[in-house]
Amino acid sequence: MKLWAGRFKHDVDQKTNDFNSSISFDCRMVKQDIMGSIAHAAMLGRQNIIDPSESEKIITGLQGILADIETGALKIDMQAEDIHTFIEGELTARIGDAGKRLHTARSRNDQVALDLRLYLLEQCGAVAQSLRGLIEVLLRQAAQHTETVMPGYTHLQRAQPITFGHHLMAYVQMLLRDLDRLADCKKRMAISPLGAGALAGTTYPLDRESVATELGLCGVCCNSLDGVSDRDFVIELLSCLSLVMVHLSRFAEEVILWCSWEFKFIELDDGFATGSSIMPQKKNPDIAELVRGKSGRVFGALLTLLTVMKGLPLAYNKDMQEDKQPVFDAVDTVLICTDTFAAMLDTMTVLKDNMRAAAAKGFINATDCADYLVGKGLPFRDAYKAVGTLVARCIDDGQTLETLPLSDYQSVCELFSEDVYDAISLDRCVQRRTVKGGPAPACVQQEIEAARTALKQVCKQF
Ligand code: ARG
Repeated sequence: MKLWAGRFKHDVDQKTNDFNSSISFDCRMVKQDIMGSIAHAAMLGRQNIIDPSESEKIITGLQGILADIETGALKIDMQAEDIHTFIEGELTARIGDAGKRLHTARSRNDQVALDLRLYLLEQCGAVAQSLRGLIEVLLRQAAQHTETVMPGYTHLQRAQPITFGHHLMAYVQMLLRDLDRLADCKKRMAISPLGAGALAGTTYPLDRESVATELGLCGVCCNSLDGVSDRDFVIELLSCLSLVMVHLSRFAEEVILWCSWEFKFIELDDGFATGSSIMPQKKNPDIAELVRGKSGRVFGALLTLLTVMKGLPLAYNKDMQEDKQPVFDAVDTVLICTDTFAAMLDTMTVLKDNMRAAAAKGFINATDCADYLVGKGLPFRDAYKAVGTLVARCIDDGQTLETLPLSDYQSVCELFSEDVYDAISLDRCVQRRTVKGGPAPACVQQEIEAARTALKQVCKQF
């Protein structure tokens, strides 16, 4: 029997019922639906909109339902239209007429908007927790590798010397911004739409603020039409999650490269790699590839929501039921990717010698060599040209800047002397990049400390 049975002559067609029904996915919000109803019923009682004794009965009934669902004693009926209908039906079956008063001054339109906000707020906390775990792994690894020299790249060409710790800290910065965005997005999510009714508010003397406070929300929506039709908070969350996946997929790509024989900068633990069914020698970075690939699902969810919402007239439209599956899937995806990625990075072996060997090739100290001449008074552009000439000579002679004889240096520019070899040593090149945010071990150490403080600070908001 449908809620709206009075208006209809016969029941809905079975396939249409399945098509229309959302219980298979909105059942996730069962706890939030019940908590929202408890807060609503309590307020109805306080305001004498319903008899306080009936309000009590409703609350006890709802608590019983939640407890039974949690223990498994009560199964959610997948034939119900949605979780809201199911809970209301179950409540009435349990406590009789008082249950029929729960929906006074409420519509499923403001109810579903509330449920989704409450559910996603909880998920923001879970995502934050997971990001925090990943950041902590990176901070630990970075602290161990403030002196592990590796080549930094531009255009995927060896460019200048950095350290592995410095490289990892770049991802920490991205993930800290992700946390900050998530915290910001929560501000607009934590708003109660209850009281918006179907679209035009209600004639009952509601106390909307007290319901919001009881639910831990920061305020109430200011316009009833907006209250039921706003899904900006879903889109904002999906944008935040998409950026998380952009960051993870860039990192994943680097992990994949670093695992290749061409780089061999890291080796993944056997627990986080897979083999091949035919090639006995293979050890594949599948986890990183999956993370890279799964970013597509999250971006897809964002685009789905933008497309669902675009052009919708006010206020509620059933199109909006399509908001849930994509955002649920996106949250699940980010959680599993972040957790697995963290565990993978926590257990990897860093092949320092290979990183250093790669840094020793490719003339990545050429800029430092030019800076050396600048230190001796030459304008940078002239120094740049002189070192370019030296690099070309090295390539012709199969030399590096470290092995090139001083006489060759001096034949290009007489400002060179013996101390050039110290100036271009990889460790010196890194140590001297002491600008704030630079790769010098002391700077990275400072960056790590500051990031630890920032992490604590941002996590307070969840
Ligand atoms: N299942 C619906 C949704 O997710 C609940 C709201 C239904 N409202 C309505 N007027 N049909 O959006």
